[in-house]
Amino acid sequence: MADAPNIPDEAEVRARWGGFKWTPENERRAAEIIARFPKGREQSASLPLLDLAQRQVGAETRTQGWLPVPVIEYVAAQIGVAYIRVYEVATFYTMYNLAPVGRYHVQVCGTTPCMLRGSDEVIAACKNKGLVKGKTTPDGLFTLTEVECLGACANAPMVQINDDNYEDLDYDRTTAVLEALARGETPHAGSQIGRRASCPEGGPTTLREMADANHDYRGEWA
Ligand code: FES
Repeated sequence: MADAPNIPDEAEVRARWGGFKWTPENERRAAEIIARFPKGREQSASLPLLDLAQRQVGAETRTQGWLPVPVIEYVAAQIGVAYIRVYEVATFYTMYNLAPVGRYHVQVCGTTPCMLRGSDEVIAACKNKGLVKGKTTPDGLFTLTEVECLGACANAPMVQINDDNYEDLDYDRTTAVLEALARGETPHAGSQIGRRASCPEGGPTTLREMADANHDYRGEWA
């Protein structure tokens, strides 16, 4: 079961983030996002604006980013809705962090398909590298969270780390990904056994011509 974060102390958070403002570049992006929606429907911009804000906090803290309360308030004020309307969005999706995380946010899927395919091994490899569920490692590199299905069940078990998925994991493959990140490398994202997208292991068994490029089968129909 996914864990709830420990929301940090509000006074400290206000002292640090009370003056949050978009960078000039993000101000331009925020305006562009809001302009995508009709007048009176600015609330629809909540998701992309929260994502933008989290990324800005991440850039400022050299982490994957999170959403301090004053930052959520800033977003709500910009689109002219009550704070709770944006807060309820931020608390619904696990893509938003409600507490600080490390440079790499390791989100291990523990839902049934991943559990049946070995997510316990993935968690064990994380633990062996010093990661503890709901906590950030003392060097600030990794935060470990267990989450519900991330939609990559065909290649279970998997983790999402920041913007990338690492799939078809086992103990050793998880260890290799974590070690590469700790060395400052960018490990190859996706399947760790060379599986293409969500094809069967060993390669596609149907629609093979579609594997490398789009293929129009219509002229071949009998
Ligand atoms: S159950 Fe893990 S990605 Fe769906």
